[in-house]
Amino acid sequence: MKLTWLTDIHLNFLEKNKREEFYQKIISVEPDAVLITGDIAEAPSIEDMMKEMVSYLHKPIYFVLGNHDYYFGEVAEVREAMITLTQTNNKLYWLPASGVQQLTNEIILLGQDGWADGRLGDYENSRVSLNDSRLINDLFQKKLLGRMQLLKKMQELADVDAAKLHDDLIKAVQLNPKKIIVLTHVPPFREACMHLGKISDEDYLPFFGSKATGDVLTEIAEKNPHIEFLVFCGHTHSESQCQPVSNLIVEAGNAEYYHPAVQKIIKI
Ligand SMILES: [Fe+2]
Repeated sequence: MKLTWLTDIHLNFLEKNKREEFYQKIISVEPDAVLITGDIAEAPSIEDMMKEMVSYLHKPIYFVLGNHDYYFGEVAEVREAMITLTQTNNKLYWLPASGVQQLTNEIILLGQDGWADGRLGDYENSRVSLNDSRLINDLFQKKLLGRMQLLKKMQELADVDAAKLHDDLIKAVQLNPKKIIVLTHVPPFREACMHLGKISDEDYLPFFGSKATGDVLTEIAEKNPHIEFLVFCGHTHSESQCQPVSNLIVEAGNAEYYHPAVQKIIKI
């Protein structure tokens, strides 16, 4: 089985002919299924982009959403739309709705979007302000109340997804696989948050990483040393690979606005 991994493709920035060129690139790889680790489009366009993509590829697309996919929208509304999309299109799998997927006898796929939780780096003294807190309504409303209220909301979103990830991982482990592949948008460890060849600085880390996700992955990987865990993520647009536990590998993808790419071909 051949999988292609895409991340941070930001299709809404492209004209239709450029999107078609990109779909042709994916088709030329001849994948059996496509994995996407978020930042596919924005809230007003994500549904149409997923429908468009599958109409060209005709292959199962397993995906999670990134922060950009919620821009100009509300988290709950976007998620409702993704649940409906997953229920009504037999090739589109928003993994938080579809749940654990058995790809082969030995390999399971699952995923949760994940959110930066301000717990890596130095949130308190950081002056960084991302578009998330202007363009995602849930975060914007909290930012109006102050930076600590914003932090609380970021952590609430991150912790809900981390808890769902924990539940999915427990279900997956019970199926006794050799390998579990996890898709998530926000890197779960500081070593996976690279920028210009170095780990992102203390000001940016609070917005680039999700410690909540990392803690769950570490716990489950350490408890199940006989299973190999492979995590794909995006968000930083900077390639990285780290191995925080001997049976846990985390890969973050490279990305450039206006130049979506096939990140990797994975043969399983
Ligand atoms: Fe992102």
